[in-house]
Amino acid sequence: MQFKVSPSKVEDAKVAVPGDKSVSHRALMLGSIAEWRTEVSGFLAGDDCLATMAAMRQLGVDIRTSSATEVSIEGVGLHGLRQATGPLDLGNSGTAMRLMAGLLAGQRFDSTLVGDASLTSRPMERVIKPLTQMGAAIDSDCDGTPPLQIAGGVRLHGIDYEMPVASAQVKSAVLLAGLYAEGVTSVTEPNVTRDHTERMLRSMGAEIVVDGNRISINGGQDLGGCHVQVPADLSSASFVILAALLADKADILITNVGVNPTRTGVIDILQSMGGDICLENARLLGEEPIADIRVRSSKLLGGAVAPQLVSLAIDEFPVLFVAAAAATGKTVFSGIGELRVKESDRIAAMADGMHKLGIQVDESPDGAVVHGGRFVGGTVNSFGDHRVAMSLAIAGTIATGDVVVRNVDAVDTSFPGFTSCMASMGAHIRVVEDVSE
Ligand code: S3P
Repeated sequence: MQFKVSPSKVEDAKVAVPGDKSVSHRALMLGSIAEWRTEVSGFLAGDDCLATMAAMRQLGVDIRTSSATEVSIEGVGLHGLRQATGPLDLGNSGTAMRLMAGLLAGQRFDSTLVGDASLTSRPMERVIKPLTQMGAAIDSDCDGTPPLQIAGGVRLHGIDYEMPVASAQVKSAVLLAGLYAEGVTSVTEPNVTRDHTERMLRSMGAEIVVDGNRISINGGQDLGGCHVQVPADLSSASFVILAALLADKADILITNVGVNPTRTGVIDILQSMGGDICLENARLLGEEPIADIRVRSSKLLGGAVAPQLVSLAIDEFPVLFVAAAAATGKTVFSGIGELRVKESDRIAAMADGMHKLGIQVDESPDGAVVHGGRFVGGTVNSFGDHRVAMSLAIAGTIATGDVVVRNVDAVDTSFPGFTSCMASMGAHIRVVEDVSE
């Protein structure tokens, strides 16, 4: 499928975006190994989380849905998972594969994790290394990519691990394995990353010690099922924020969005570029802070994006690249090399797309300089990356001509209903079949 985007007049609106992907994955995994039932509301029924749901069912967990967003998980306890009869297919989801590797490393049975072409090219060495230090036996392809064969029946022991890259997925994999390990498992991150795992483990009764950037967990702690209320996903809200900022004159309210401070780098960066973004009605939804986000169209100004904010905005760089293109002057992004190993090489994919739409982007191995300019019409490729597809579609709403974004099926991994959400604020983004495929 492809997006056909026409220049649009984005107008005042109140919108809701779907549930948080990271929190939804964790609710499924932790709910499955908790004692008793976990009820999840606001669940993201996107392809990534549905892959995790299918995997947990294959591992013997009874998971029922009373609607797309209401999920009930009959927890089987720490040692109640059963061997799956075949490989667990985690589709496009790096989060699912890395966290599941941690969860399955200490089971009594073997598991095999597979994924789609994009996931099969992503680095898994980063989780294999610490898990192996804990005693796990995991085989991958020779270049450290999936499939992963995880041997069961090993005994894990706690480690004190210094992560070389800031990654919430690696941290979470180690903490999940830590639940099955003897003794204390500690992980230290070079920069703060999203802490949804720590918060949810706590709300399920586990004791987690956080000392600066060092997080520790004691093995063998039983979890108690709970009610997980999933906030709307700030990463999805970022596309709405971008469309609102770039519009001529719009005032848009996005309701009930997760504003966990380990995720809000995108807001800080856009505000520093002159974006008029305010958090209203800030409150807690269970363990997670949420707010309504009001965004008014703004004149943006380029600048240098502080590298300390990178891990707090890791998924929002495609959005930020488009904002930078619409800003006056140039914007310098540095320390963003991790973007090259996401669902696509996001620096290259965004540079390619924006270049085709008339914007100059100078790439470096771990950075990019985006020169402000004017988007023109054209045809671009998302490289099968949901966030690249949606970012380039928003660019199309302010282009001087029509924009076609090819290869957009992956948008459903994180933001089912993206085009209708955009339509509700006046953005003309249509999904049409790509007959040239
Ligand atoms: C995620 C962590 C991030 C992010 C991904 C979701 C998570 O990856 O890019 O979309 O849910 O833990 P890294 O932690 O590997 O940077």
